[in-house]
Amino acid sequence: MKLELQNLTPKEIVAELDKFIIGQDKAKKAVAIALRNRMRRRQLPEELRDEVAPKNIIMMGPTGVGKTEIARRLSKLTGAPFLKVEATKYTEVGYVGRDVESMVRDLVSASVSMVKAELQEEVKEEAERRTEEALLDLLLPGVKQHGGETESDSRESGHGGGEEPGSPILVSEGASGTNVEETRSQTREKFRKRLREGKLDDKEVEIQVTKSNFPAIEIFSGSSFEEMDLNLGNLSNLLGGKKKRKRTSVKQARETLMQEEMEKLVDSDRVSEIARHRAEEMGIIFIDEIDKIAAKENRGGVDVSREGVQRDILPIVEGATVNTKHGMVDTSHILFIAAGAFHSSKPSDLIPELQGRFPLRVELEALHAADFFRILTQPQNALIRQYVELLKVEGVDLEFTDDAIGELSEIAASVNTKTENIGARRLHTIMELLLEEVSFNAPDLKGQKIPITPEYVKERLEKIVEDQDLSRFIL
Ligand SMILES: Nc1ncnc2c1ncn2[C@@H]1O[C@H](COP(=O)(O)OP(=O)(O)OP(=O)(O)O)[C@@H](O)[C@H]1O
Ligand SMILES: [Mg+2]
Repeated sequence: MKLELQNLTPKEIVAELDKFIIGQDKAKKAVAIALRNRMRRRQLPEELRDEVAPKNIIMMGPTGVGKTEIARRLSKLTGAPFLKVEATKYTEVGYVGRDVESMVRDLVSASVSMVKAELQEEVKEEAERRTEEALLDLLLPGVKQHGGETESDSRESGHGGGEEPGSPILVSEGASGTNVEETRSQTREKFRKRLREGKLDDKEVEIQVTKSNFPAIEIFSGSSFEEMDLNLGNLSNLLGGKKKRKRTSVKQARETLMQEEMEKLVDSDRVSEIARHRAEEMGIIFIDEIDKIAAKENRGGVDVSREGVQRDILPIVEGATVNTKHGMVDTSHILFIAAGAFHSSKPSDLIPELQGRFPLRVELEALHAADFFRILTQPQNALIRQYVELLKVEGVDLEFTDDAIGELSEIAASVNTKTENIGARRLHTIMELLLEEVSFNAPDLKGQKIPITPEYVKERLEKIVEDQDLSRFIL
């Protein structure tokens, strides 16, 4: 499933999210419109294009109602570089930890991998062709060099399980009296055929691998971590990698050579440029747990630093230039979506400047029994389906009746009201408890059908649900 985000209409984006997320229509709609707007902006005449700022979004809603899930699903729609981060991961510039600019660097890296994969796909055929020739050269060293038996030839024939005589012998056999060149190319074609059929996969060859001169040095000292990365990157390019000879199977060698050929065929400067541009124009940064950096009131050291993070985020959201490994990146048109439960704080606890930079507020609704029923059954990755498939592996056939699923939904909703409301996550704990016995005994139940009826649900769960203290601990 490869859906290009920029080609999807708002309706199609919502439809795509609908496959996994139940309800929360307002949030889905806001996200869909924001995404479509970027596509619209790109069609505008240049003077106007720069003026249209993205409408950043804050999603609010209780825990476990689908905020992070919306982000996760968006990231699966391809075409736009996407990065999801937790606001709590960052620290104010000057403190130990990651500074917020690194989120832009990470977005560009995501963009680079995406563009690289696309461009490599374009040159795949050529790379495959070159890899095949290179493998044939390795397998038939004598043939390529127009020479007789060399040291490596005789070594080559020592491997390969004995049934495969070394190529040079074939050459010299056929060479008597006939055209040597022709026989050589015949041999090569014969090998090509066997190679394509995978018959030579286990044969050993010697290849050159490029080893980076630098061991992975990671220095975690706040922002200087990224700086080190920049400098080392340049340095190792200058000095070049070290070549090392290595014996490996044809199968393994094919992968290594293929990788090298693709690297050679794709111009890394071009990748950087496209990727940078794409991150600037279409990048999406999803900042989760934004409420965790909203300080209610000044309670000392920690909060000061949190406010610092908010201040550091400001210029990035508004539009700043960030230095990355792949060049300077302008953040003006990157779309930011923030999300948080805002359980113990409110959006108004964020510093005003930051509030103003997220003009769109959408609220996600708390979930009820009817929503739970749909969450259990409708999404492509619905929990019930997951459990049924898992137990099928053991040869156990779980059969849920609709009434049983209804009962489960009611129970989840009622536990949520009686104890903490943890939204759809409650379904996970309840399903786990419901199927604990079956899961445990599954290997002994092979070949059986296990009907899950309302009676079964009640029998397994009723006692715990009724006892509030017990459900606090178990569910
Ligand atoms: N509306 C929904 N439709 C389908 N599944 C949902 C929905 N809401 C939550 N879930 C499921 O519940 C789990 C938790 O949801 P999610 O991670 O989105 O919570 P959240 O809103 O980000 O909560 P928090 O504020 O605690 O981070 C996920 O596994 C998700 O599949
Ligand atoms: Mg979340």
